[in-house]
Formats: sequence, structure tokens, C-alpha cells
Amino acid sequence: MNQYILAIDQGTTSSRAILFNSDGSIHATSQQEFTQHFPKDAWIEHEPGDIWSSVLQTCRHVIQDNNVDVADIGSIGITNQRETTLVWDRKTGEPVYNAIVWQDRRTAAYCESLNEAGYADMIADKTGLLIDPYFSATKLRWILNEVPGVRERAEKGELVFGTVDTFLLWNLTGGRSHLTDATNASRTLLFNIHSQSWDEELLSLFDIPASMLPEVLDSSDNFGSLDADILGKPIPVYGVAGDQQAAMVGQTCFKPGMAKSTYGTGCFLMLNTGDKPLRSEHRLLTTVAYRINGKPTYALEGSIFIAGATIQWLRDGLQLIENAKDAEPLAVQTDVDHGVYLVPAFTGLGAPHWDPNARGAIFGLTRDTGIKEIVTAGLQAVCYQTKDLQKAMEEDGERPIALRVDGGMVANNWVLQFLADVLGATVDRPEIIETTALGAAYLAGLKAGVFSSLDDLASRWRCEHRFEPVMTKEKRDGLYAGWVKAIDKVQS
Ligand code: G3P
Repeated sequence: MNQYILAIDQGTTSSRAILFNSDGSIHATSQQEFTQHFPKDAWIEHEPGDIWSSVLQTCRHVIQDNNVDVADIGSIGITNQRETTLVWDRKTGEPVYNAIVWQDRRTAAYCESLNEAGYADMIADKTGLLIDPYFSATKLRWILNEVPGVRERAEKGELVFGTVDTFLLWNLTGGRSHLTDATNASRTLLFNIHSQSWDEELLSLFDIPASMLPEVLDSSDNFGSLDADILGKPIPVYGVAGDQQAAMVGQTCFKPGMAKSTYGTGCFLMLNTGDKPLRSEHRLLTTVAYRINGKPTYALEGSIFIAGATIQWLRDGLQLIENAKDAEPLAVQTDVDHGVYLVPAFTGLGAPHWDPNARGAIFGLTRDTGIKEIVTAGLQAVCYQTKDLQKAMEEDGERPIALRVDGGMVANNWVLQFLADVLGATVDRPEIIETTALGAAYLAGLKAGVFSSLDDLASRWRCEHRFEPVMTKEKRDGLYAGWVKAIDKVQS
């Protein structure tokens, strides 16, 4: 049996390649950040060449820098920033426009017109999603309509569409695989999550030629083999999942009621609802958690656009801290009820508010307010936003059994204790917090036969630290009431 599984994690701000040993432990990692482009207010783009070259380089580095023999890599799993939309030429592979990133709000007015025209119910019934610029369909329509010549070429069958997984697969296989998996498809606004197929009525509503769409496979499946000249050997890609769904797999949330929350650029809370898609009455999303052996498992998802990105902004925008790590010691010195609320609605608000026109604000400033209060308020905002999602889930009749957390921010103990306090719930941090990449490796390893079953994977999950709530209900409710007031004020 080959020794390693290579996980490619193509995220919003960086690409990573992680080599996992066959017992699921990490052997080596390589990471590369790339440039974010902001051509206009609330437009966010990535250069497709940056996405591709950062993936290629990190894969090559993780192998070369660690003296790994490529022959020892048995399979590859891909996980990716979801919804981000690309269109490229079927023959040359040349993109026709930059990747429009999931956070981009340029289609807000069109989304509003669809809502006003009464399409929301039909779309939610079929896709489990709301009408919001977040998802791929309106971004794809924008490229077709606004980039000169693109619609004509697409209608002639010359162009293809893909989310980042599809774009990477295409490039890794020299254009042989035009594929995606059910989790990524379920974020496009074009995929019927009940029939598990592209939906003709939606294609015609958004005016998307069907010939552009990739074929949809299971999350653990044969996605084709790498061109030999990419890494020196034609390694098979056996796993693909959107990053939040991959984290769900990495956290082994395989039973209904199990939930995870991932703190990367944004924060995404997902709760397994089993083989039934549960329609939220409180503006959460219904999505495919993973599809294995043709069988979809569904999840309820709350998506927050800005979580870790708040800390980045405190560091790079306001320059209040030098490193993200500096936030924790500042928060430790600060009382939780300092009265400052920072609402990081930099690109609008996601669940459960869904307001693309909201913008960020800081409330409650006094002469005593200093750097530590503002930084602490930034950390608290991430927790309060998770509380908004927990509330919406509870109103939908679902309460997570326990919350498993992951992503870069969960190294911060102060954040996790405040999270447990403000949720009034247990928060579990696993030994491996790189659960997104781990999930991709698990999906690939399942297909490759490295892992035998979901139960086998579940038995590998280890809790590193359990955070129990200690705050009184009165204090928690008081703090949260202040947050609700602040959120109300930023809405458009
Ligand atoms: O839906 C967007 C999400 O997939 C992005 O994840 O990890 O890049 O914040 P991340």
C-alpha cells in the first residue's frame, strides 16, 4: 500500500498541500498565499493563474522539501473554496475572466430583482439555497453577459464552467476531467439537491448553456489521474469536496445531530441532518454534506462571510496588532463586558441576515476604549456570529449534540472559551485542526482502500481540549443583547 495521501486545500487566501500518512497523521505541509484583487467596492477576484500556480508549487514543494518519493503517494484529495466561479476555453484551457470569488457582491441588484419577482421559494425547494450573490449562478451569468464575446462562445460549446475543484481537476489532468462532486455542485444554485442533477428550469432562469457544466460525481470517486509531467507520476484523484464539507468529513460528523464549525476566512457551522434534506425556516442553507456510493448525506449550514478575516483586518488594515497571535494576550487582559461591539460586515452579512448591502461598524466607543477593547470585540464578533447561527438552528428545531471546531483561529483558547460561554454549549477542539485537508484525504483514502468505512474514520477522531461554558445565563444574555442591537444597526 502506498504510504501517503496528498491533500490539496485551495482556500480563499492561500493554497496548501498536505501529505498525510496512511494513519491520518500529517507528514508535511506547504502553503502559499496569493493576491486578492478588489477592482471595485465589494468586488473580489482571484487570478486563475495564481490559483493554479500556487497549487502546483505547494504540491511540488511538499514533495521535494521532504524528500518524498512520488511513487509513495497513492492518491490525491482536493478540497476548495466553494462557489468561486471560473470560465475557460475547452480547447486551450485559457480562462476568459478572473475567478469571481464567493465573497463578491457584484450581482446584488440582480439577486434582489429575482427575490422581488418571487423566485425564492422555487429556488430554495430545488437547491436548498437562498438567492444571494454568494452562490455561483449569478456570477456565471455575469461573466456570460458582461465579458465581451463570452456568451457567443459559450453557446457554440467552446467554453466550460467550473468551481475551483473543477478548474484544478481540469488542469491537473491536462483537460481530460471536466468533473465536480455533489458538495461543490450543491453551492452553484443550479443543482437540484433532491434529484442530484443539474436543473433545467434553473439553467434557463439564469440563462446558462448546459454544455458548460461539469459532470457531478460522488465526493469519494475516481476523478481521473494527474498528467505524469505534473508531479512525475499519474496519481489518481479519489476525493473532492468543498472545504466546509471536507471539514465535516475530517471532523467525522457522520451522525445526524453532529456539528462542526470551521474558522477560516469566514465561519461555517454545519449540522448533519442525515439522508433527509431539512428545509430551514430561519434562513439557513440546506446543502450536501458528502455523497458516498451514490447516497447523499445532507446538512444544515450557517455561513458567515468574515471570521478570521476580522483578525487579518485588525492586523493589516488597522495595524492594531503585529501578528494574529497577539490578539489572545490582549483579550486575556480585557473584561468581556467592555461595551464595544465590532460588526465585521465588510462584504455584507451572510446567515441568517443575508444582507449584501450591510457594511461593517464599531459601536460603543468611549474615551476609555483602546486597542485591547477593539481587538477583543473583533474576537467576540466571531463568537456572537456563531451564536446567531446556533439560534437559527434551534429555531429550526435542531440543537447540535456538541460542537467540534477547527480552522486556524481555534488555536486561540480565549476565543474557544468565550465561544462556549456565549453559546452555553460544549466546544470540542480535535487533535488535528487541519480538518479540511484531513477530510479531503479521508475521502481519497476511502476510495483507495486506505480506510475501510466511515466508522473506521470516526474511530480516529480525538478530542484535544473540551471547553465547557462557565458564564452565567444572565451575563451571556446581556452580552448577546448588545450584539443583536449592533447587528440591527448595520442592516440596509
Ligand atoms: O463558502 C466559502 C468557503 O468555502 C470559503 O472557505 O476556508 O476559504 O474561508 P475559506
